[in-house]
Amino acid sequence: MESYIFDWLNLLLRWLHVIVGIAWIGSSFYFVFLDSSLVKPKSQELIDKGVDGELWAVHGGGFYNPQKYMVAPKQLPDHLHWFYWESYWTWMSGFALFVVLYLFNAQTFLIDKNVFAWGSSAAAIGASLVYLVMGWVVYDAICRAFGQKKNGDAMVGALVFAYVVIATYVACHLFAGRAAFLLTGASLATAMSANVLMVIIPGQRKTVAAMKAGEKPDPMHPIRAKQRSVHNTYFTLPVLFAMLSNHYSMTYGAENNWLVLVLIMLAGALIRQFFVLRHKGPPQYGWFAAGAMILLGVIIWLAPAPQPEAPRAPAAPKLAEIQAIVEQRCQMCHNAQVISKNIQLHTPELIVKNAQAMYQQAVVTRIMPMSNATQITEEERAKIGAWVKAGAKSE
Ligand code: HEC
Repeated sequence: MESYIFDWLNLLLRWLHVIVGIAWIGSSFYFVFLDSSLVKPKSQELIDKGVDGELWAVHGGGFYNPQKYMVAPKQLPDHLHWFYWESYWTWMSGFALFVVLYLFNAQTFLIDKNVFAWGSSAAAIGASLVYLVMGWVVYDAICRAFGQKKNGDAMVGALVFAYVVIATYVACHLFAGRAAFLLTGASLATAMSANVLMVIIPGQRKTVAAMKAGEKPDPMHPIRAKQRSVHNTYFTLPVLFAMLSNHYSMTYGAENNWLVLVLIMLAGALIRQFFVLRHKGPPQYGWFAAGAMILLGVIIWLAPAPQPEAPRAPAAPKLAEIQAIVEQRCQMCHNAQVISKNIQLHTPELIVKNAQAMYQQAVVTRIMPMSNATQITEEERAKIGAWVKAGAKSE
């Protein structure tokens, strides 16, 4: 019952997380596009109003004419829409999902004894939480130290990249590959949300407060907010890959998985750069090509070596033999009480019923046993494969 409830909690939180995430990243993409597509207003009326740039667009049957005021309009409108709930809900739902999936089941999902021998779940959980906020602490310090300097953007970019490389390496040497990928993405996503919470929104509040007090708003706030929101746009593709990676064991299960993650995230940022520049002028395909080349390189690098033709097994193994393997390697997490992902494997009938799923998980993708907690052997995997291929017979 407990794992059944957890599965629902997992599903509902994930659903929420994807929906609010789309709302957030969608509006973020839109504003990056909008900002890059603004043209200087021609009409004197707009110039007198203080409009810095405008765009004409058609969508859903109507014409839209957004206008940007730099630093702020002369008068505050009565109704002002703020964008922050999308970001906060994405973070909150994501963190809740992380807790339900990785922290409640730390021994299964967070810890891989073949990677790092944690003394206790609590130690691993504590370290994962530190790791999660560390990204923000370091990134924010880099922005504060170099963000306002001349050529600061390049410096910030280089230092943040260096941090991501080191952090990815560390995560992949402390946590199960799947968790390490997710955590690295989540720590960048935490920095993105913190940018909204700690820099962008407070700056906007100060601008509004200054206007209400009849003072001239400090132009530093919008500049800083813009900087952070531009950083966020480069994080989006890398973060989204990290979030999806847990379905693809060929990435997080690779031998040098940290390098796989670094390269794919880099490819994502380069491809994002192509789109950011594309909004401003003619397409600069070099950025896209660089990202695509890196991806292609990773695909070739990770390709499985061709397997020598396996010697034909004299006969397909019997169910009793498979049952013995499953008892030893799988039942710990798939039995009458513990029902991971609604799969039970504690009777011969259940093993036959789940044969295809077992084949997928233990032979094809090799995700099971989770983190190979039960040390299944290659020979045992091959036996499961041979039994399923021969029709998963119940004798
Ligand atoms: C250490 C615990 C553990 C062991 C050992 C283990 N599993 Fe799992 N298994 C899980 C967990 C946890 C999930 C849910 C994974 C998820 O949510 O992505 C799961 C999911 C599955 C699924 C469903 C996957 C899906 O996405 O639908 C199958 C099938 C499965 N395991 C088969 C096996 C087989 C076969 C073995 C033995 C060779 C095995 N498991 C050993 C923990 C384990």
